[in-house]
Amino acid sequence: MYNIHLEEIDSTNSYAKLNLDKFGDRTIVHASRQTSGHGRLQRAWVDLGEGNLFLTFVLKPSASFAKVYSNLTQYLSVKLSMILEEYGLEPQIKWPNDVLINGKKIAGILSETVIQGNEFKGLVLGIGVNLNSSAGALECIDRPVTALNLELNSTIKLDEFRNKLVNNFFKDYDEFLETGFEFIKEYYIKHASFLDREICVQILNEKKSGIAKSITNDGALVLKNNDKEIELTIGDIL
Ligand code: BTN
Repeated sequence: MYNIHLEEIDSTNSYAKLNLDKFGDRTIVHASRQTSGHGRLQRAWVDLGEGNLFLTFVLKPSASFAKVYSNLTQYLSVKLSMILEEYGLEPQIKWPNDVLINGKKIAGILSETVIQGNEFKGLVLGIGVNLNSSAGALECIDRPVTALNLELNSTIKLDEFRNKLVNNFFKDYDEFLETGFEFIKEYYIKHASFLDREICVQILNEKKSGIAKSITNDGALVLKNNDKEIELTIGDIL
């Protein structure tokens, strides 16, 4: 495993994509400050200042695991949730990979695939965790968000948190690639915040509403609308 630390960068995901050829499998890129972080649905990922986590895993799994590439974000959301439990919190997961504390988002995860021509080059799996923020800075974000220091009433040690996350991620990574979503399914469902509720899902430029019925063995969301059930593999619950 290689570890790259940057003081300031536009986005750890963009940097990892740009330099992907130079980086081996399981390289970690993390930055103290991110000037142009990005998230899902073309949203920006606001930099809440030093002491927060901006990290990208560079992964180059073999093509035989292609089926589980898209589940890696869910795997990371589970690993993060387990760590938050160690801090005494009760995290919830919003499909596919948002991690919430008391209904407020504490972390965001974004996976991007790098393809050149027809060749799969790798994945950059980025995570931002709000570890140390003032309540005022969170007001800049137009959705309910929180930070670990505010939940625990104490400053969080960034290095310690980052090491915990990276070590836990790689501890079961190979087994996860072999097994796929079923490896984390029980934990994921136990911590799901959305099941049996009426939800609206944004899928590219479309929105679909219905009752969130279940999660399949592949991590897809089963949405029921007018007695019809559909399986969603991409999207964001609004
Ligand atoms: C989301 O919830 O929309 C996903 C946010 C992902 C943010 C992280 S921070 C580190 C990495 N670099 C980025 O530009 N984005 C991800």
